[in-house]
Amino acid sequence: MNDYPHTAALMQRGADFLGCDTAILCGAMSWVSERNLVAAISNAGGFGVIACGAMTPDILDREIAATKALTSKPFGVNLITMHPGLFDLIAVCRKHGVTHVVLAGGIPPKGSVEAIKEGGAKVICFAPTLALAKKLLRSGADAMVIEGMEAGGHIGPVSTSVLAQEILPELSADHLVFVAGGIGRGEAIASYLEMGAAGVQLGTRFACATESIAHPDFKKAFFRANARDATASVQVDPRLPVIPVRALKNKGTEEFTAKQREVAALLDAGEVDMAEAQLQIEHFWAGALRRAVIDGDVENGSVMAGQSVGMVTKEEPAADIIAELMCQCEAALAK
Ligand SMILES: Cc1cc2nc3c(=O)[nH]c(=O)nc-3n(C[C@H](O)[C@H](O)[C@H](O)COP(=O)(O)O)c2cc1C
Repeated sequence: MNDYPHTAALMQRGADFLGCDTAILCGAMSWVSERNLVAAISNAGGFGVIACGAMTPDILDREIAATKALTSKPFGVNLITMHPGLFDLIAVCRKHGVTHVVLAGGIPPKGSVEAIKEGGAKVICFAPTLALAKKLLRSGADAMVIEGMEAGGHIGPVSTSVLAQEILPELSADHLVFVAGGIGRGEAIASYLEMGAAGVQLGTRFACATESIAHPDFKKAFFRANARDATASVQVDPRLPVIPVRALKNKGTEEFTAKQREVAALLDAGEVDMAEAQLQIEHFWAGALRRAVIDGDVENGSVMAGQSVGMVTKEEPAADIIAELMCQCEAALAK
C-alpha cells in the first residue's frame, strides 16, 4: 500500500473493517465466486466473497474448507436471504469462523443478523434506498453495499451515481458504505472514495480473471461484448412479475420475451391460472447461469454481466486487475 498513499488513506476504514490491504471487494457471483477466484482475490489483497447461491449447507461447508486451504487471508460468504436453509448456512459459516457474512436478495429475515453476530462475524447488507439503509444499520448491520443498476446480475432501478449521491453524504461519516455497480476503472473508485465510500465492490471486472473457473466461451462472450450488450431483462406483462437481471443479450433473452408473451396469451385464454403462469416465467431461467458459466452455453444460458463488461478485454490474474485499479485510483487522487 506504500505505492498508493492517497488511496490507502481513503480506503483505511474499509480495509480495517474487512481485514485486508485494499478495500476492494469482489462481489459474490454465483458459480463464478468459488474457492479459486475467492482465494485469488484475497491473496491479492482484496476481499473475496464466496457465492453460496443455492448451495446446501454440506456443499458450503466443503467450499469454505477448500477456500481456507488456498488462502490464509480473510474472505466473506454471501448468503441469499430467501434460501430455505439460511440459518443452517449461517451455522456453517460460524463453524468455520468466517469473518464476514453478506446478506443478499432482500430484507434479512428476523433473527438472521443476530445469529451471524452472535457467532462473532460482521454483517454486510445491500441497501436499495437511504431509508432501508438506515433501518438495516439500526437492526445491526455493520456495513452496507449500495449497488446501482449498471451492475451485472439482479438489479434495482436506480443508477450507482444517483444512489451514491443520495446515500453517501447522509451515512458515510458514521457508517461504512461500499459502492458497487458499473465500476471498471480506478478513476471511478477514486471519485466514490472522495464522496465518502469506505471502499468498492466489483463483479463484472473480476469474472474473467485467470483464476476464475468460468468456461472459456463465457469469458470470450465478455471480451467481445460492449456496454450496450449488457441489458436488463424486461417485464412484458404487468401480471407476470420479472425481477430485472442484467446479462448479455442472446438467444435466451429473446426467447424469454417470447415466453412471457406466450404465457400472457395462455392466461388471457384461460388455459393456465395465475399461479401456473407465474411459475412458468420463474422457471424459464432455472439453471441458466450455471449453463453459461460452467457449460459455456452462452446462447441459451444467462450470461450475467454489468455495463462495465466493455472494459473487460482479456484474461488477467486477479492481482493484476487489483494493481491496475489501484494505480488508476492513485493517479486520479494524486492529481
Ligand atoms: C455473473 C454474475 C453473477 C452474480 N451473482 C450474484 C450472486 O449470486 N449474489 C449477489 O449478491 N450478487 C451477485 N452478482 C452481483 C455482484 O456480486 C456484484 O455486486 C456486481 O457484479 C457489481 O457490479 P458490476 O457487475 O458492475 O461490477 C453477480 C454478478 C455477476 C456479473
